[in-house]
Amino acid sequence: MKTLDLAVIPGDGIGKEVVPEALRVLDAIAEIHGGLAFNYTHYPWSSEYYIEHGRMMPENGLELIKESDAIFLGAVGDPSLVPDHISLAGLLLKIRREFEQVINVRPAKQLRGMVSPLSNPKNFDILIIRENSEGEYSSIGGRVHSGMDEVVVQNAVFTKRGVSRVMEYGFEIARKRGGHLTSATKSNGIAHSMPFWDEVFQEMAAGYPDVKTNSEHIDALSAFFVTRPETLDVVVASNLFGDILSDLGAAIMGSIGIAPAGNINLNGKFPSMFEPVHGSAPDIYGRGIANPIGQIWTAKMMLDHLGEPELGEIILNAIETTLEAGIKTGDIGGKSNTVEVTDAIIAAMKKQA
Ligand code: NAI
Ligand code: MG
Repeated sequence: MKTLDLAVIPGDGIGKEVVPEALRVLDAIAEIHGGLAFNYTHYPWSSEYYIEHGRMMPENGLELIKESDAIFLGAVGDPSLVPDHISLAGLLLKIRREFEQVINVRPAKQLRGMVSPLSNPKNFDILIIRENSEGEYSSIGGRVHSGMDEVVVQNAVFTKRGVSRVMEYGFEIARKRGGHLTSATKSNGIAHSMPFWDEVFQEMAAGYPDVKTNSEHIDALSAFFVTRPETLDVVVASNLFGDILSDLGAAIMGSIGIAPAGNINLNGKFPSMFEPVHGSAPDIYGRGIANPIGQIWTAKMMLDHLGEPELGEIILNAIETTLEAGIKTGDIGGKSNTVEVTDAIIAAMKKQA
C-alpha cells in the first residue's frame, strides 16, 4: 500500500467548501486504485485562526507540515476579519517562500463542456510556467523627496540561478509533452533583464534540440492568447509576466472557478503546494454554490506531481464528462450546487474504472 501524507489547509471562505469536496474525490480515486491511501492532516489556519491566536499559523507551523508529501490548500483571505496583506503574507506567501516553491505552474486548457468567451477557441491546451521567487516582485527600491521632487525606484531582480531553473523546468515539461516552448520576453523595451532572459533561453535551447522554441514579446503574446491560443503549448515567463498570462489563461477557459495551480519546490527539501487560482470568494461563501472544479483539478495536478498521472487523467476526464452533461455551478451557467457537481464527478470516475 502506497500512502501519501497530505497537509490540508482549507483556509478561508469557499476554501472551506471546496476542499472537503476535493478530498471526497481523492478518497474515490484511492478506492478505484486499490493500492493507494491518503493520510490527511487538517490544519485550521485561516483568518479566524488569526482572530483567536494573533497569527495565521502557529510559530512551529512550517515544521508541522514540512515532512508531508504535499500541501493541499484552499484559499486564504477574509478582509472582514484580517487585512489581506497580513493574512496572505502570514500563510500563503510564507509557505511559498520558506519552502522554496520557486515555480508556479498553471494550465489553461479548453475543457470539453466549457464555453470559452473566445468565439473560436480551437481546443487550446497551454501550460504556463511562472518564475515564483524573484523578478519584478522584489522589495528592493525606495522613495525619496516629496511633491514634484519625489523619486521612486523599484528594482527587478533576475539571477542566473533563478532564470535557469525556471527555463530548465519549462524545457523538461515541453520535452515530455512532445511540444514546444515559448519564452515571454520584452527585450525590445526592457534594456537589461530581458536581453539577459533571452540569452539564457537561447543557451539552454542548444541543450534541447528536440524542443521547438520561440520568443514573443509579452504584449504580442497576450494578444496570441486571445487570437490563436491553439498555437501555444508551454510558456515560460518571469514572475510578473507569468502572473498576468495565467489570469488571462483562466479567463479564456471560461471561469476562474475552474483554474488550478501548483507551487513547485525543485530541490526536494520541502513539499510542493497545490491550490486553485481563485480566492476565498466571500461574496458567495456559505451558500454551497462555489464551483469545486478548480480545487478538484488542483488535486489532479497534485497526483501528477506525486507520480500518479493515470489517476489524474481519470479525474480530468470525469470533470469534462460532468461539464458536458451540463452539471455545472452558477458561475459557468449551470444550476447545480457544489456537492452535486462533486457527486457527478465521482460517479463519472467510477464509471471509467
Ligand atoms: P476571488 O477569486 O475570491 O473571487 C473573484 C470572483 O470570482 C468573485 O465574484 C467570486 O464569487 C468568483 N469566484 C471565485 N472562485 C469561485 C468559485 N470556485 N466558484 C464560483 N465563483 C467563484 O477573488 P477576490 O474576490 O479578489 O478575493 C477574495 C479574497 O480572496 C481576498 O481576501 C483575496 O485576498 C483572497 N485571494 C486569495 C487567493 C489565494 O489564496 N491564493 C487568490 C486570490 C484572492
Ligand atoms: Mg494573479
